[in-house]
Amino acid sequence: MKNEKRLITAALTYVNNIPHVGHIVGCHLPADIYARFCRSYGYNTTFVGGSDMHGTPSLVTAQELNIPVEELTSNLHEIHKKIYEKLNISYDIYSNTHTPTHEKITTDFFLDLNKNGYITEGEIEMFYCENCDMFLPDRFVVGTCPRCNYESANGDQCEKCDSLFSLNELKNAHCKVCGKPANLKKSKHIFLKLSNATEMLDKWIETKKEIFRPHVYAEAKKWVNEGLKDRCISRDITWGFPIPLKGYENKVLYVWFDAPIGYISITKELSEQKYKDLWLNDNAKIYNFVGKDNIQFHTVFFPSMLLEQGKYNKAYNVVGLNFLNYEGQKFSKSKKIGVFCNALLNDNPEVDIDTLRAYLTTIIPENRDTDYKWEDFKNNCNAELVGKFGNLFNRTLNMIKSYFNGTLNCDEKDLNQNELDAEILNAITEMPTKIAESFEKAELRDAYKLIMNYATIGNGYLEKSAPWQLMKQEKVKEAEKVLFNALNLCASLCIVASPIIPTKVTELWQNQIGLEGNPTKNDMWQNASKLNIKKGHTIKNIQPIFERIDNEKLEKIKQILAEPFDIAEHFKK
Ligand code: MF3
Ligand code: ZN
Repeated sequence: MKNEKRLITAALTYVNNIPHVGHIVGCHLPADIYARFCRSYGYNTTFVGGSDMHGTPSLVTAQELNIPVEELTSNLHEIHKKIYEKLNISYDIYSNTHTPTHEKITTDFFLDLNKNGYITEGEIEMFYCENCDMFLPDRFVVGTCPRCNYESANGDQCEKCDSLFSLNELKNAHCKVCGKPANLKKSKHIFLKLSNATEMLDKWIETKKEIFRPHVYAEAKKWVNEGLKDRCISRDITWGFPIPLKGYENKVLYVWFDAPIGYISITKELSEQKYKDLWLNDNAKIYNFVGKDNIQFHTVFFPSMLLEQGKYNKAYNVVGLNFLNYEGQKFSKSKKIGVFCNALLNDNPEVDIDTLRAYLTTIIPENRDTDYKWEDFKNNCNAELVGKFGNLFNRTLNMIKSYFNGTLNCDEKDLNQNELDAEILNAITEMPTKIAESFEKAELRDAYKLIMNYATIGNGYLEKSAPWQLMKQEKVKEAEKVLFNALNLCASLCIVASPIIPTKVTELWQNQIGLEGNPTKNDMWQNASKLNIKKGHTIKNIQPIFERIDNEKLEKIKQILAEPFDIAEHFKK
């Protein structure tokens, strides 16, 4: 086990609906694969996640459904949790941001900032509904767009013509809750002095030049170069944490103020020791996995808060991803375009989780936006998982069974007889290191490609060494050696593929190859370059590990996963 401590976080998801595959690919899955790799590689790893409970979107949805926002968020939080469990996202804890621990840490954080002189007061103008007796956040006020005359523009933006304008330009503004006219009214707010953090932040970002991906570094720099503006961190709504200052009784802290602090409080909920080791100690490395629209919050807003407060460890790397599209279009719940996750709540034997995880790995939007395509899903399964990976195991195990009745009796000293043997033994020592290098850099698509190449090396070895010929020529010992080497490569492959397809490799390792232990175990990676199969090894049951997908099956899977979640139906009593 290595000494290095690592904390992996996935962005805390809003719970105003259930996740679609874009959320999975853009954050939970890459974070999970990375955390699984880190555990396997021997780092002292902690992986935390949770639901982002506060914020206007949940409040709006709750009002639309006419249920208390606490009920909406706690109910959806449980659903989110279950979906990530079904997808085998290996959170050490999946909590949420509406807990007493989180409130305490957030409040203290705010008071520290205030004490350090980074909080100021100011006035802003907002729409107010006399009838509802409340200030209206952007999404609560509708009106006519001053640019295109679209009838239901929101607050200061129009989704039809995409323009942004100032609030006083919105025509015919009215309250979304009750429909009565809304008027602009001044209100007192608190601001975080981000401008004062500019220099510190810029220094910090410069230390990340070689660590952040270029698009992440560029985005962070862009904000700093434009000059950081003080940011309003209070909101006139009733859902969120109270502001611990006099005169703000009807206001709450902005959701983006409390949410990232959630990483800290969720770690603390998991264990006091981990909280100290990971957050109060600079040596621990924190990795934030976040979607494209979260990059600025994790490279600018949250680190500024941390620098100004001065107590906690900051991210070592912010692994910012891009967007995932669906068959060339944007995901849309309302238009029913996309792949949704509600079906995963029921056990659908047609939908194999590792087959899905493997395909999703190929489209993680690491360096550019990517596209979910059902045809690619099918091809990845048939050509890669069945054709390369599964095929290697199946051929190797079947030949061992039929030629040697399941047991191989080779001596280690006889394994390296010719160039082909040398090549495969070399691959076993070298490929795991290469694959680890890609994983380490969170280049997960490359890691996946290398894993498939590794399987191809195994297949090529069988092809060229042709144990079936050797058997015909009665070179039994030679055939046995070939299968012994191939089986060793299979075992190694189980370990290196474990971050991506954990269930399948465990099945192969334990029930088919017949090895003790578990390829997904912590600190297992070092065994990937060794010969795990010993003289006299007997294999167990043989079964195709991945199933081919024909067009008929593809249609079935599509139907299951393309069904959007009907939130109104779900909350109907
Ligand atoms: N809830 C936000 C979103 O889904 C992400 C919050 S990440 C955190 O876009 F850092 F604030 F936790
Ligand atoms: Zn109203």
